Amino acid sequence: MTRDRLLILKRVLPVLVIATLAGGAAEKSAIPDIEHWRKAFARPDHTPAPADNPTTPEKVKLGAALFEDTRLSGAGNVSCSSCHQAELSFSDGIDRHPGLDDQPLDRRTPPLWNMAWGLSFFWDGRAASLESQALGPIEHQREMGGDLKRALEALASDPQMRASFAKAFPEDPSITRDNLLKALAAFERTLVSPETRFDRWVKGDDAVLEADELAGLSLFMGKGGCVACHQGWRFTDEAFHDIGLPSTDKGRGPVLNMKAADHAFKTPSLRERVWSAPYMHDGSLATFEDVVDHYAKGVVKRPTLSADLPQVIDLSEKERAQLVAFLSTLSSDDPPRPASLPPKIMAFGAPAQAVAATTASQKDRRFSPSAILLKVGEALRILNDDTRTHNVRVDSAEMNFNSDGQNPGDTVTLGFDKPGHYDIICGIHPEMRLSVDVASAP
Ligand code: HEC
Ligand code: HEC
Repeated sequence: MTRDRLLILKRVLPVLVIATLAGGAAEKSAIPDIEHWRKAFARPDHTPAPADNPTTPEKVKLGAALFEDTRLSGAGNVSCSSCHQAELSFSDGIDRHPGLDDQPLDRRTPPLWNMAWGLSFFWDGRAASLESQALGPIEHQREMGGDLKRALEALASDPQMRASFAKAFPEDPSITRDNLLKALAAFERTLVSPETRFDRWVKGDDAVLEADELAGLSLFMGKGGCVACHQGWRFTDEAFHDIGLPSTDKGRGPVLNMKAADHAFKTPSLRERVWSAPYMHDGSLATFEDVVDHYAKGVVKRPTLSADLPQVIDLSEKERAQLVAFLSTLSSDDPPRPASLPPKIMAFGAPAQAVAATTASQKDRRFSPSAILLKVGEALRILNDDTRTHNVRVDSAEMNFNSDGQNPGDTVTLGFDKPGHYDIICGIHPEMRLSVDVASAP
């Protein structure tokens, strides 16, 4: 049933485009700074993998088999692919999947494209890596209701599984929790969304987008304000925002133990979304039209609303249809198959040259400087000179610190009494990283 609705949606879109073309001028809207945007949306040529879990064909093959394996669930009846279905963009086409108790789960099943570039996982970002994420659904009482120890025993009694683990992990050929999670993560990192018509525009083919799609792209970057959060080739800033949905789910707030992040959810990628309706963390919006209508006239005003959301998004009916037309250019015309991109071990971000400093700025969602040298006993002042609320956090063995909501104008001061390396992040904008090296006093 849901599948039919998706197909209808696909068929209606071109009609909409033609209708608006016939009704108005088919002028090509000028996109200001076109070369800048082409660069900003260019696809990468490698898939990142962490140094402690390099992607190998053997591991990916094992991970793909485990993704389908119902032995990971308590009753032997659910696998990852029960909810993350390949033909539905690794989602499930419904608002909230029924749990083992037959009641809808709390949130919608997100599609799994381009997870390799993710900085945090789940709608509220509560898992820090794909490896740690997979434990969630396996042991979740209402999702798979599994017991990892029993699942590992079941797999170990299967000679074929033993052989597959041995091939995937030649240095440590055993069926362990870590190897299972590594194989699942390695498989998920291969789910790269394929090129679409939009990518041909990015590569310089001006004629590939219709006038209304180009007008939609202009609105996306201009009046709609969408690109403030849906950035880069995946169309996400990996940050957490309250976009004013009526849902009472607190999202990121409880994860950070911080009211300023209530109702904030991770910005979803917009790749291949034609194939993964309905939308939002609660699956409450059925179509792209509903999504655009939400931004234009449905935003619930509350104190936690993201500073990156324009106060008013004033879009005519025609402009809303153009935005919808543009959104569909980020999806394949036929059910998507993962693209193949060579893997590469990558650490997060380029290592910056560390400088001696005792003050850091947070302007434009960037710590500046981004790498600092201090001496034991010195304090670091972090000034929120940005327009957004931030959150300074350190989670390490030596130091646990959470600044709570740090409003524009607020300064957070951190003292360091032990030498070592510290990573400071913002819990709301995890792409913000500040590395601090504290040297012992002379
Ligand atoms: C019963 C349905 C169901 C099953 C089974 C399931 N998932 Fe999920 N998955 C979900 C839901 C719902 C969420 C979102 C939950 C949340 O954000 O709180 C999710 C989230 C995720 C995410 C995070 C995506 C993102 O955008 O951050 C990943 C990755 C994932 N699942 C992988 C898996 C793997 C691997 C398995 C098997 C071990 C699995 N899932 C089994 C329903 C399911
Ligand atoms: C302030 C940041 C921000 C801005 C600006 C923004 N979005 Fe979003 N977008 C999000 C977040 C966060 C979500 C998920 C919200 C949730 O589920 O609670 C989302 C969800 C979506 C979704 C649903 C994706 C899915 O798979 O569920 C679409 C489509 C979308 N936005 C399109 C747009 C368009 C079009 C605009 C411009 C009119 C826009 N967004 C502006 C942050 C933003």
